[in-house]
Amino acid sequence: MAILKIARMGHPVLGRRADPVADPRAPEIKRLVADMIETMQDANGAGLAAPQVHVPLRVVVFQAPPDRGEPEEESFDHTAPLTVLINPAIEVLDKETDGGWEGCLSVPGLRGWVERTAHIRYAGYDTEGRRVVREAKGFHARVVQHECDHLEGILYPARMKDMGKLVFESEFSHWLSKKGGDDS
Ligand code: NI
Repeated sequence: MAILKIARMGHPVLGRRADPVADPRAPEIKRLVADMIETMQDANGAGLAAPQVHVPLRVVVFQAPPDRGEPEEESFDHTAPLTVLINPAIEVLDKETDGGWEGCLSVPGLRGWVERTAHIRYAGYDTEGRRVVREAKGFHARVVQHECDHLEGILYPARMKDMGKLVFESEFSHWLSKKGGDDS
C-alpha cells in the first residue's frame, strides 16, 4: 500500500471524464483501491475519487460515519461504512435539495456551500465484482454525489450558486459550524 499524491484544482486530470473500469476484480484495481483508502484516511477525508490521485478511472471510495447523521430523521440510516464503488451510477429519488458545506482534498483550505439532491439511489461494483446498490440521504447522499462528480471532471465550486459562500477553512471553523464540510 502507498499514500498517493493528490491532484489539486487546475490539474487536467480533474477536469476530464474518467474512463469505465473494464474488470473491477483486476489486481491493479484492488491495488489502486487499497492505496486510495490509505490516502483518504491519511488525509482525514470522507471520500476520494481515482482522478484525485491522477488515475482517470471510474473508482471512488467514501464513508459516512455516525457523527455525520441527521438525527431529525431517525428512521433512515444515514451512515455508510467504508465503501468502494467502481463504475458508479446515481438515480435521483426525490428532486428536493439540501444545502451543506463541502470541502475537497483537491481544493485544500476552502469550504463551500453546495446544494445537492437530498435522496438518491446509487449502484456500482466492489473489487470482488459484486454489485452494490444503496439508498442514501443526508451526508451519505452528499459525499456520493461529490465523489461521482469527480468522475465527470466536476469540482464542487462548479456546483455552487453563491460564490459568496466559498470561504477559507480557518474562517469557517472560527465563524461557522464545526460540523460539516469534510474534505472528499
Ligand atoms: Ni473532492
